[in-house]
This record gives sequence, structure tokens and C-alpha cells, in this order.
Amino acid sequence: LSICHSSLSACGPIHIIVNLLYCLCSSWWGGVQMGPPDPILGVTEAFKRDTNPKKMNLGVGAYRDDQGKPFVLSCVRKAEALIAAKQLDKEYLPISGLGEFNKACAQLALGDNNEVLKSGRSITVQTISGTGSLRIGANFLSRFHGGPRDVYLPKPSWGNHTPIFRDAGLQLKAYRYYDPSTCGFDFKGALEDISKIPEQSVILLHACAHNPTGVDPRPDQWKEIGDIVKKRNLLVFFDMAYQGFASGDIDRDAWAVRHFIEQGHNILLSQSFAKNMGLYGERVGGFTVVCKDADEAKRVESQLKILIRPIYSNPPMNGARIATTILNTPELRSVWLDEVHGMANRIIKMREQLVAGLKKEGSSHNWQHVIDQIGMFCFTGLKPEQVERLIKEFSVYMTKDGRISMAGVSSGNVGYLAKSIHEVTK
Ligand code: LMR
Repeated sequence: LSICHSSLSACGPIHIIVNLLYCLCSSWWGGVQMGPPDPILGVTEAFKRDTNPKKMNLGVGAYRDDQGKPFVLSCVRKAEALIAAKQLDKEYLPISGLGEFNKACAQLALGDNNEVLKSGRSITVQTISGTGSLRIGANFLSRFHGGPRDVYLPKPSWGNHTPIFRDAGLQLKAYRYYDPSTCGFDFKGALEDISKIPEQSVILLHACAHNPTGVDPRPDQWKEIGDIVKKRNLLVFFDMAYQGFASGDIDRDAWAVRHFIEQGHNILLSQSFAKNMGLYGERVGGFTVVCKDADEAKRVESQLKILIRPIYSNPPMNGARIATTILNTPELRSVWLDEVHGMANRIIKMREQLVAGLKKEGSSHNWQHVIDQIGMFCFTGLKPEQVERLIKEFSVYMTKDGRISMAGVSSGNVGYLAKSIHEVTK
């Protein structure tokens, strides 16, 4: 526009017309190509456009109650009321977030009496949920990790892991994790691959309720993984987005994280309160670095603040206040633990009902993995063309890899889901 404007005042009519045409035809963004929809959140967009009253959104991992409605935990409502009654101010939080939240968040993951917390050799910063936490972690690695710039992800892993680390300038590699022939954990393959990872590389581990497969190592398998990781001197980055959602028990789900720390791994840890407190849109999470000693932790903290400040300055306060109130108010904490348990149990029930429904429909396939897998997701083993049919013919939406969010299945629609899956797999 400024070109047009200066031309208008400086030149004759032909130049004016030429410049106007140039302005109309050219654009700053002419070279920008249309990008594909997000593999997970794009499913919701397609679901919303569908007018079939029987449609089901099993794409994004977001918990629904048995009426298929988004679920706000009663401990969250109570915490909100307590916070509102305090008439708190809306000043900026510190760059690293709400101090009380960071403390409670680390305690939840590591356990109250963890030596790491007592000695002050870890640092936790509040982040914009799990994604923001992973990205701060990736940026930190990119700037400070002295080892190879390779991050090893389980194959498959959450769809957003790759762009998070890639956009931070790191390279993605993979280790075997899921065995399609058993729809279970490829323990042997994982150990073989991990034992060949170059020393000092970064390995990402899902702490519990692996996304997208719903397949977790058993404690004895975690122990062996921990030993090999130690032998290879790998830097462990735990992603714990589902604490409580796998077994219904927050301590049991944090077992692997605590075990690795006990074994001397100075881990990085991402946490999210989207699922276990249902605080999806509040965007509340934490990033923790376990360090050698308190002095190192202080130095790491200073650099995390330097990383965060130019990205979003400081995190939002509302979700952190809610989570802190729940974690630090004994009565609310116990309501929360019951509610987490309730959500996990409802999902387990839906797994059983789905398999029973498939049998009732006459399916001859073995669907045992639907019951054996854990957490929010079931990696069905459905092929891309079957997924496509489910979407097109039955309005049952899921990600292309055949992952379904069990949290979107309810007593009211599990029968329809079983029938639809049977139709495309017979
Ligand atoms: C999912 O995998 O569906 C969730 O983690 C939500 C998301 O942001 O992808």
C-alpha cells in the first residue's frame, strides 16, 4: 500500500494504474501453500461439519461423561468458588509461574518425600499445559544439551511430539515400541533399539497411558529399560500427560518416573493437568528438570526464565490457581482422587462393553487388546481404509492411525460403535 501511495503522488496516470494493478495482483503471502489439517485437532473440525445425529468424535483425547457431555470435575467447581470468594488480583505471575503450583506439581509427580525435592536439586516451572511444557523442554535442550541433537521417540508416539521437537531445531529418531502383531508392547524390539542409541542422546518416554497405543511397560520391564538407558547414558525426557488416568491411582501411574529418579537418572519431566483435572482449555502444566545439585537447579531455572520471557512472558494464572487449590486443600484433593478414579473406571467399563458389543454383533476377531490397553486411548488395529469407511459411512471420527479416544464412548453410543466397527471389519 505504501508503494501505491507514494506512486500516486509521484507519477502520472499510467504509472498509477500499473501500480494499482501490481498491488491488486501481488501479495506478501502469495507463496504460502495450503497446509494439511492437524492430524488430531483436524478430526474435531471435520466432526463439527457432519450433520449425522449419530456422529461420534473419538479423535481428540477429551473426557466425556456417560451422557457424552464434557465433564467439569466437581473439585474444579469447588476450587473456582473458593478462588472467586478470595477476590484475588490479576497481576502478572512471575516468569516461572505460580510458586505454590510449581511446588505442588512436582510433589504430585515425584511424591512428597522425594529426596530430589528435599535437597532442592530440581526446578519446576509452570507451563502452558503439556504441549507448552514439552516445547520449553525442547527449546532448553536445543540451547543447552551438549550431546547429540537427536531425540528418540517411541514408534508410534503422540502426533505432536515430532513437530514440537523439530520446530525447536532437534532431529527425530525412533525406537520400536508397539507390536502390531500382538497389539501390545514390543519389549524385545524396544530393548534392542534402545541399546543401540548413541550415548548422551535424548530418549522420550511416556510415563503412563501411552498415547496413541494405550500400551505401557510393566514395572519389571520399566526396570530393564531403566538399566539400558543408564548403560547408554541417555538423557530421559518423561512425558506424563495422564497421571491418574491409566490406573485411576496417581501414585501407581507415577511409578516409572519415581523409579528412574531413584536409580539416579536426572530426568526432564513434562506434566499436564488437562486430562486428570479436566482443565483442557485452562492450559496448565509443569516442566521439571532434575539436576545434580541445588546450585545447578538455580542456574537451570535462570535459563528457563530467559527462554520463557520472549515467548509468552509469563503463564496464565487461572488454571494454576485451580490446580493448586485442589492439590493443597485436603478435602478437595480427596474429591479429586475419587473423580480421577471414576473417570479411569468409566473408560475401563467402556472397553469391556465395546468388546462385548463386538462379540454380540458376531465379530470373529480377537479384540482382547481393547481391554488390555490402558488410559484414554485404544489403538484398535483398524486399517486406514477401515477408518475412512467408519468416518464416511458411519460418522465415527477417529485419527487415521486407528486410535480411538475411549473417553468419548458412552453407554448410549457404545452399541453403535461396536456395530460400525463390525461392519467395516467383517
Ligand atoms: C490427544 O492426543 O488427543 C490429546 O493429547 C490432545 C492433543 O492436543 O492432541
